[in-house]
Amino acid sequence: MNRACVIGLGYIGLPTSIVAANSGLKVVGFDVDVQRVERINSCDPVIEEPDLFEKLKQALTSKNFYACTQITSADYFNASITHRTNLEIFFRWIFVMKIQCIGTFIIATYLAL
Ligand SMILES: NC(=O)c1ccc[n+]([C@@H]2O[C@H](COP(=O)([O-])OP(=O)(O)OC[C@H]3O[C@@H](n4cnc5c(N)ncnc54)[C@H](O)[C@@H]3O)[C@@H](O)[C@H]2O)c1
Repeated sequence: MNRACVIGLGYIGLPTSIVAANSGLKVVGFDVDVQRVERINSCDPVIEEPDLFEKLKQALTSKNFYACTQITSADYFNASITHRTNLEIFFRWIFVMKIQCIGTFIIATYLAL
């Protein structure tokens, strides 16, 4: 039987995994968040979605779905991971610029003395 690996078990990845598993596909959900993986495997849906608890229970009971912290081989992959927002990139840039300015100031002061 074909196996799918869903990377990232958040608002997109978890329901996607569950729907696919309850449709008969073997699905492995991979996430870097160990606590999230443990909670999902304990039938805690982690996110708020109508009927998700019952559907997760069905997927786990059928053994068509489990979550893990190790990426596995699969026939299909679905990546549903978070990426940085433009605002986060902007603030990171400001932080780096600030460090560079401080560094330049320290070097300039040292050279001037
Ligand atoms: N939620 C939405 O309504 C929505 C709508 C359109 C597009 N998207 C896009 O879908 C993607 C997923 O969104 P989401 O809301 O499900 O995010 P989310 O934050 O709810 O979930 C992301 C999950 O990915 C995991 N993760 C992060 N980096 C990882 C890695 N390197 N390997 C494995 N797991 C990793 C996180 O631990 C988290 O559980 C994002 O790119 C988002 O922009 C989301």
